[in-house]
Amino acid sequence: MSQVSIDLGGKVALVTGGGYGMGRASARRFAACGASVVVADIDVARGLETVDLVREAGGTASFVEADVSQDDAVADMVGFTAATYGGLDYAHNNAGIIGPQHSVVDYPLDLWDDVIGTNLRGVFLCLKHEIPAMLARGGGAIVNVASETTYKGNVGDIAYTASKHGVVGLTTVAGLQYARRGIRVNAIAPGNVETGITEAAREFLTPDQVRRMETIQPLGRLAQPEEIAEIVVWLCSDAALLVNASRIAADTGWHVS
Ligand SMILES: NC(=O)c1ccc[n+]([C@@H]2O[C@H](COP(=O)([O-])OP(=O)(O)OC[C@H]3O[C@@H](n4cnc5c(N)ncnc54)[C@H](O)[C@@H]3O)[C@@H](O)[C@H]2O)c1
Repeated sequence: MSQVSIDLGGKVALVTGGGYGMGRASARRFAACGASVVVADIDVARGLETVDLVREAGGTASFVEADVSQDDAVADMVGFTAATYGGLDYAHNNAGIIGPQHSVVDYPLDLWDDVIGTNLRGVFLCLKHEIPAMLARGGGAIVNVASETTYKGNVGDIAYTASKHGVVGLTTVAGLQYARRGIRVNAIAPGNVETGITEAAREFLTPDQVRRMETIQPLGRLAQPEEIAEIVVWLCSDAALLVNASRIAADTGWHVS
């Protein structure tokens, strides 16, 4: 995979859900571009593993345990970032979960609360605490994670689809509210990517559904987390200065097919 040259030396990046999948890939890419990185996750072992990978490659990273659905934990996560590296420039609000497939009528309420809590409330809380830290620094850039499902909907999962549509709304409003104060807020909308989520989906999908998941996007295969990370880091960099309050599809055109 080819990579553009991006210099983030002296910058500080925060990645939620940085313990695995796309978050791990973006943490590694931010660090490879010279940023100091805070990896936040509820999974301590995997979060620490990401930090080790960054450090083995010569980068700078620290881990903080944080459940993004909890206000205090998110406040502490941002506070830890500022205390450890002196501020916050970039955030990849990436932590997210997907549940089993249920009809609307049968969708368990506790599962609804979990999915909305992590995917939607979590992004809101991150914005709420990250933006003041970025304003204190004179600006910054945030990439939230939506999904291809925000273009047409995933028939099997109403909470996931609703949460990701909500992320697009948060992105639009936050991006518009803070543009004049130097903060850009965008959302990336990946297609199907080889991560913990697709690994877990294999356990509840039929073999036919798994084949479809793996081959449906025009790319003809699952995307790799590193391919998404490249776009996330580019969106944070000054090269993307004119991109704000936008949803960027990263699915090789699946959303219009
Ligand atoms: N994989 C895909 O095909 C795909 C497609 C579109 C969007 N997404 C989105 O991409 C994002 C990243 O997911 P991924 O595919 O890399 O999955 P993943 O399961 O590989 O990684 C998600 C990480 O988030 C962490 N996490 C979960 N709940 C958390 C919480 N409450 N607080 C903090 N961390 C938490 C997990 O421990 C894990 O390390 C998610 O928002 C997901 O919805 C994934």
